[in-house]
This record gives sequence, structure tokens and C-alpha cells, in this order.
Amino acid sequence: MRIRHPDEAPAGVVRQAVDWNRHYLTGDTGWDMGRAAPPFESLISHPPSWLQGRRLAALGCGRGHDAARFALAGYRVTGLDFAPLALEEARGLYGAVPGLDFAACDITAPAVDLRGTFELVLEHTCFCALAPQQRPDYVAGVAALLSPGGILFGLWYRFDPPDAEGPPYSLSEARLLELMARGGFDPIHFETPADSHDKRAGRERLCAFRKR
Ligand SMILES: C[S@@+](CC[C@H](N)C(=O)[O-])C[C@H]1O[C@@H](n2cnc3c(N)ncnc32)[C@H](O)[C@@H]1O
Repeated sequence: MRIRHPDEAPAGVVRQAVDWNRHYLTGDTGWDMGRAAPPFESLISHPPSWLQGRRLAALGCGRGHDAARFALAGYRVTGLDFAPLALEEARGLYGAVPGLDFAACDITAPAVDLRGTFELVLEHTCFCALAPQQRPDYVAGVAALLSPGGILFGLWYRFDPPDAEGPPYSLSEARLLELMARGGFDPIHFETPADSHDKRAGRERLCAFRKR
């Protein structure tokens, strides 16, 4: 029998590409802010020393607002999502942005041609979209995408007491750090951003992890 970590959210429902695609089909996309997350604007205007590298993958990129913003800032960005309609809408909105492309990818099992090709991987409401029992596969997928020493960074949401409701599924700081350490990542930055979107204020963390 598997022992559950005290901070670990109970298992949830694993959602497939077809389930997420339905959200884009019906316009039920309440998470979408229509622009890059404000803490990413701050990172771009005042890049921290750990934000090193140019090739960036945006996980579960949805309509691509964050991906496009980093591309406009000079990064070479690939937005990854497994919902065909998300990619179609992202390409419609941002297809003309230089240095940006989009690719179909299940981030828990990235295709061989994407492996080891990114120095940076961006998280924003993708982790919380996965059922808690998929989290080790998420970490393994990110490790596969990154080149050695690469950085996983972004916004993790939502830091609420463990519950079975989701997506978005909750997590705890202790559980996130343990999960990343087990997957071969060292924490290099951890803060509660001051400029979160109103709906997420205090419930998300801006983090960075370096792949060992
Ligand atoms: C809550 S939305 C967030 C979209 C975008 N990051 C944003 O903040 O607007 C979660 C996204 O992750 C995608 N997604 C969920 N599970 C995925 C997986 N295993 N592989 C790739 N994309 C996934 C969904 O299709 C959806 O577009």
C-alpha cells in the first residue's frame, strides 16, 4: 500500500487532451488572463541571475500569452500543449511573433525530438491542471525536456490545504520541494510574488529549480 505524504493532495481525475480541448471549444477558460502573468513582466524587466539561457519551453501553454511575451523579450520559445484547439488559438493569436512556435506535446511524456533541447522551462497553471498522482511524471517530463543544468521556473498555483477538488489541484510548499528534490531538481528561488493577478494573490509562488 502506498503511504500518502501528509501534505499531498488526494488522487484526482486524470484529464486527457480531449477533456481540455472541450474547454477551448466551449470557451470555458476562466484561467486565461488574456495576457502574460504580471510576475513574468517583472522577471523580464529585471531578469534575476538564475534566468540564464535562450531556448525556452512553455508547459501547457494554452493560448500562448506567456510564451509570446518571452519570445518578444528575445527568448526562443516553443509553447507546448496537448489540446489541439489551444495550439490552434495560440497560433492564430501569436503565429507572427518572431522566435515563437507551438508544438503538440503531452508534457508527462515528451517526444524524443523535444528532449534535452531547452535551457529553460516555464510553468504557469500547468502543474495544477494535472491530477496529483501525475506529478512525478510531470517532473520526469520536465527533466527530459531540459538540457543538463537547465532551469524550471514559473508560477505554481494553488497553495491551499490539501483537497481533492480540481483542477486546479492544491499543493503545499513542503510537498513541492520534496517532489522536485526526488525528481533531481534543486530549489534556487522561492517567493510569494507581490504582483500576482488579483484572483491568485497569496495563492501562488514564483519558483525556480535547477536540474542536477
Ligand atoms: C489551466 S490551463 C493553463 C493554460 C496557460 N498556461 C495559461 O495560464 O493560460 C492548463 C493547460 O495545460 C494543458 N495541459 C494539461 N495537461 C497537459 C499535459 N499532460 N500535456 C500538455 N498540456 C497539458 C491544457 O490543455 C491547458 O491548455
